Amino acid sequence: MTKFDPGGPLRGELRPPPDKSVTHRAALIGAMADGPTRVTGYLDSEDTRSTLRAVAAVGGEVREGEADDHGGFFVEIEGVGLRGARPAEIDVGNAGTLLRIMPGWLAGQPGGEWIFDGDDSIRRRPVDRIADPLRQMGAEVEARDGRLPPLRLTGSPLHGIDYALPIASAQVKSCLLLAGLLADGETTIREPIWTRDHTERMLAAMGASLRREGDALIISPAERLEAGDVPVPGDFSSAAFFIAGALVVPESEIELREVGINRNRIGLLSILSRMGVEMGGAHEEGRAMTVHEIREPGPEPIATLQVRSAPMRGIEVTAADVPSAIDELPLLALLACFAEGETVLSGAEELKAKESDRIAGIVDGLVGLGADIEARPDGFVVRGTGGLRGGTIDARGDHRLAMVGAIAGLASEEGVEVDGFDAVAVSYPRFERDLRALLA
Ligand code: S3P
Repeated sequence: MTKFDPGGPLRGELRPPPDKSVTHRAALIGAMADGPTRVTGYLDSEDTRSTLRAVAAVGGEVREGEADDHGGFFVEIEGVGLRGARPAEIDVGNAGTLLRIMPGWLAGQPGGEWIFDGDDSIRRRPVDRIADPLRQMGAEVEARDGRLPPLRLTGSPLHGIDYALPIASAQVKSCLLLAGLLADGETTIREPIWTRDHTERMLAAMGASLRREGDALIISPAERLEAGDVPVPGDFSSAAFFIAGALVVPESEIELREVGINRNRIGLLSILSRMGVEMGGAHEEGRAMTVHEIREPGPEPIATLQVRSAPMRGIEVTAADVPSAIDELPLLALLACFAEGETVLSGAEELKAKESDRIAGIVDGLVGLGADIEARPDGFVVRGTGGLRGGTIDARGDHRLAMVGAIAGLASEEGVEVDGFDAVAVSYPRFERDLRALLA
């Protein structure tokens, strides 16, 4: 149990840890390439360590270099090439992104067999969302009860398909993009709502041929990918906890540096703007939040964010907002407790299929802290009371719930004990240290 007492303000600056989504992709796409891929700022976390082990299991060579100051390290990955993966049993641990993306690469390699399994939480996460379209491409895939891990793949020749994703998912899209590289003919993917495009950016930088035509994303088969350098930006989803903390803890003022602002990741910013948080560009005086885009050393846009405490009002958040803020929706529930009026989230049933059932987890968790919040089948309703009493929250093995609990504690009247706080190691092992440094 770790306790977070009311305190603050949050002051100072921080470079959040490297982006988890980009890190997973750097390892996987590096393993698919010919030659060495040099990753600067590879996120050091349980999930992304699982991906390095998976890459090594299929024959990739992983050479670890020095750690940096923000929770990352340098790593060089010697790829096995697009069609050179060796058979393996892969333990994904808690990493849903690894579970959903990597099979796309392996499915099209005849002669190989792979099994994917992981922890108890992974065994509850659906894989039919990748198994169905992969089968349509000609893959041989088996799952427990047809929809859950372990997932068994037998490599077979694939052909391109035209597939409309039933749910917006960057993991499924990425899986099919990788499969498309090894298929016969073009593969077309249609998303109901655009999701993060880290995979597209990285594949394009490594020489793959993909294009957008209206709502369709089309990838052509490839002979090889060209290894290169991958700088990993700071993780917006990790930065989001500090953004929320600075907004709700009075008199806070922080600066977050080198944060990735991929347009399909920063839905929280448009939600906040609708909640009345005034946004501006660099040096716009008087704004609660400024976003200053600084440079693009790699394919991902990066910015410095400045945030200070601000009043908020309740709003409606609907399906169209969900994909670009998917991992920040538990934080939205917390922010809504401090806003004036009612906040309603709908169209977010996908939250039930995350590391935990995040609708139940955040609603029960915040009720226990004194919030006026109710679950809906596809979201929640929060009536803002301007504060939170405090108490104990169960992280349910979910890193994002653990971090919401910590921020809730700082802004609460009595403090919050987070049961299962260790779960933060999945994406942000240094979270507590970074948070306390901003309180010093
Ligand atoms: C991720 C995509 C999202 C997100 C997850 C990481 C990714 O999942 O929730 O934390 O790296 O592609 P879905 O694509 O399944 O919505």
